[in-house]
Amino acid sequence: MVGSMQAYLGQIKHHLNTSMVNQHINTLNQIDHYAVVGNPIAHSKSPLIHAAFAAQTMQMLEYERVLSPLDGFTNTIQAMRSRGFKGANVTVPFKLEAFELANNLTERAQDAGAVNTLIFDETGITGDNTDGAGIVRDIQQNLGLSIAGKRVLLIGAGGAAEGVLHPILACSPSLLVITNRTLNKAISMVKKVEEQSDYRFISVNAYAFDDLQGQAFDIVINATSTGLSDTLLPLPTSIFAPQALAYDMMYGRETPFMAFARLCNANVVDGLGMLIEQAAEAFYAWRGVHPETQSVMQYIRTL
Ligand code: ATR
Repeated sequence: MVGSMQAYLGQIKHHLNTSMVNQHINTLNQIDHYAVVGNPIAHSKSPLIHAAFAAQTMQMLEYERVLSPLDGFTNTIQAMRSRGFKGANVTVPFKLEAFELANNLTERAQDAGAVNTLIFDETGITGDNTDGAGIVRDIQQNLGLSIAGKRVLLIGAGGAAEGVLHPILACSPSLLVITNRTLNKAISMVKKVEEQSDYRFISVNAYAFDDLQGQAFDIVINATSTGLSDTLLPLPTSIFAPQALAYDMMYGRETPFMAFARLCNANVVDGLGMLIEQAAEAFYAWRGVHPETQSVMQYIRTL
């Protein structure tokens, strides 16, 4: 398609020979390459999402899946850089390695302690994290629910939970409780937050699952990986306040957490919106253009 477009522009150039046509041909020759890197990666929807963003914003880019060997992430990234790639998204299990590899980190990547977006340029490798911005945008813009003043329960204390913690706190909930099977991990996340004066007006606590009995939250976010193993978390039904949002960061299937939340009459949402919004943030970091996400969400849901 690009070849035929070039031939077409070449014919016009022959007749008109204007500098504008020269400019178009240059643009066509400069197709920038990006990829999502992970292991496994075959299931990733990111190429479809970025292709839709590129078409919509008329950006010339190609986006592919790259399967990195588990012990070869750095080599994979260096090979991509030497082939001229402009950036990459990074997914499981390489977000911490990407954080280590980047020679420059955005503030939100530093806060998250993990990187899901790499930008390659003459200054080296910049690491960014768009996951938190993705979930906040999905909850506030797409679902129309302001986080400010709400009681939020974050379930999990692994990389996914760390990635969204600061952007959620930045929206000023009245209360943020972190709960996790291994309570100590939740406690150390809370301690790190307490060291930061930015959030001193927010009540941030860690609780064991059992100690949540009788507590109610307006927004409950499942950031554990239990959806992958079909495990039901031992949570009390009290956690869902009337009209609560139950947000599972997983997408593509009904998880036990989603089924449980439905039985408790919560408003249940999966992580597809977050996936698309984090992709839109990465697209903006690379291209300087914000794609429209609603139509892409509808399109991806139909697949
Ligand atoms: P990710 O990058 O997806 O966050 P992770 O860092 O391995 O992956 O974290 C997985 C999270 O899911 C953790 O909070 C983990 O709880 P532990 O810290 O106790 O391991 C949680 N998790 C995974 N399997 C679980 C299970 N069967 N029951 C409860 N929590 C589980």
